[in-house]
Amino acid sequence: MSERPRDPASGLPFSRLVEAFAAGSDEAWAVHFRALEKQAAGEEVIVLSVGDPDFDTPSVICEAAVAALRAGETRYTLGGGITPLRERIAEIESERLGFAVSAGEIVVCAGAQNAIYNSLRCLVEAGDEVVIFGPPYVMFDGVVAASGATPRRVPLDAATGFRIDRAALEAAVSERTRAILLNSPHNPTGAVASPAELEAVAALCRERGLWLISDEVYADLCYDGDFQSPACLPGMRERTVVVRSLSKSHAMSGWRVGWVVAPKALCDHMVGLIYHALYGGAAFTQRGALAALTEPIPEVAAMKQAYRERRDFLCAAIERIEGLHCIKPESGIFCLMDVGGLGLPTKLFAERLLECEGVSVLPGDAFDPAIGQMVRVSLCQPRPLLEEAVKRIKRFASAVRAEAAAPRVGAGG
Ligand SMILES: Cc1ncc(COP(=O)(O)O)c(C=O)c1O
Repeated sequence: MSERPRDPASGLPFSRLVEAFAAGSDEAWAVHFRALEKQAAGEEVIVLSVGDPDFDTPSVICEAAVAALRAGETRYTLGGGITPLRERIAEIESERLGFAVSAGEIVVCAGAQNAIYNSLRCLVEAGDEVVIFGPPYVMFDGVVAASGATPRRVPLDAATGFRIDRAALEAAVSERTRAILLNSPHNPTGAVASPAELEAVAALCRERGLWLISDEVYADLCYDGDFQSPACLPGMRERTVVVRSLSKSHAMSGWRVGWVVAPKALCDHMVGLIYHALYGGAAFTQRGALAALTEPIPEVAAMKQAYRERRDFLCAAIERIEGLHCIKPESGIFCLMDVGGLGLPTKLFAERLLECEGVSVLPGDAFDPAIGQMVRVSLCQPRPLLEEAVKRIKRFASAVRAEAAAPRVGAGG
């Protein structure tokens, strides 16, 4: 076993766990944090490196939270979430999933991230393996490692449109595998798993006795076709943990409200974990979430339409820039841009684009070295800023091409 990490000042030991999330995450977000620093220093930086909705939370939701505070909902609440919210979610999920879900099969968590963490803590431990698909959402390796288990990646191939390959998936499942962590609609590729792909995952879970954690945070942001949850497939309800969130669909990332739909016994264990880790969420944010799921909120459809239009604009505009190519996402709030035609590694591309033109994107290496020449571009900026970003990206691409054509003349910064 490796040496325990220590406090540099006192020499006192930390747990080995701290290394699980320290590794990689700083590097993954280096360009993003640099962009924020520049912005704070007054530079006109366009931040396209994070998926944080730029829209305000619809006012009906904010008003409900404020009313709850004014009504004195300021005390401890139940670990699994306030009862009316669990009941309302159960109603919605019953309709969406097509089978009856009770309030006891819902646990309200502090966002999808916390829901995934809680699920893994209750399902796996040191020595276990969890299969994830690569390129993964940047936090997946760390959150799996935080449970003590080891992530095993199944590569998704850009050439196939990031489709799940059953043979590759089967090869990644070992004696130690306890769960598959699936994210469809997928961040960063925007791919939505087809019924056949879902069935392949489900079949493996049934055959090998595995849990499926199904991260569905982008389920309400599908632009080309419907979303289906793998929990609906035969024999899957009892082995699937569905993870959902209001962060993206309702512009509520800072509220930290998400939930799981899972078998009752697992939910009971998770509530126990929440009591020990958090004691419980905040009642007023959950009142806001209840309003989000009860009141008619036209902004939700309007935001989805805006993301769709931004996607269409960005992809078409990038396609017109020599050396760049955009992979049009079926869902979500990101586009992957292939920068291979410019001959720069993605990290260098992202660093130089930020320094020269003040546009931040996330380099593909942050997700997966195997992703190739891709950078992730967020759609969470208003259209005029996206238009300005495209102008800057175009200017940068021309400078890089000119530099490549005349290597002794400095260009592109
Ligand atoms: C795939 C995926 N899962 C989970 C999360 C976390 O969402 P939340 O804000 O609900 O914790 C994100 C956020 O970007 C995400 O992209």
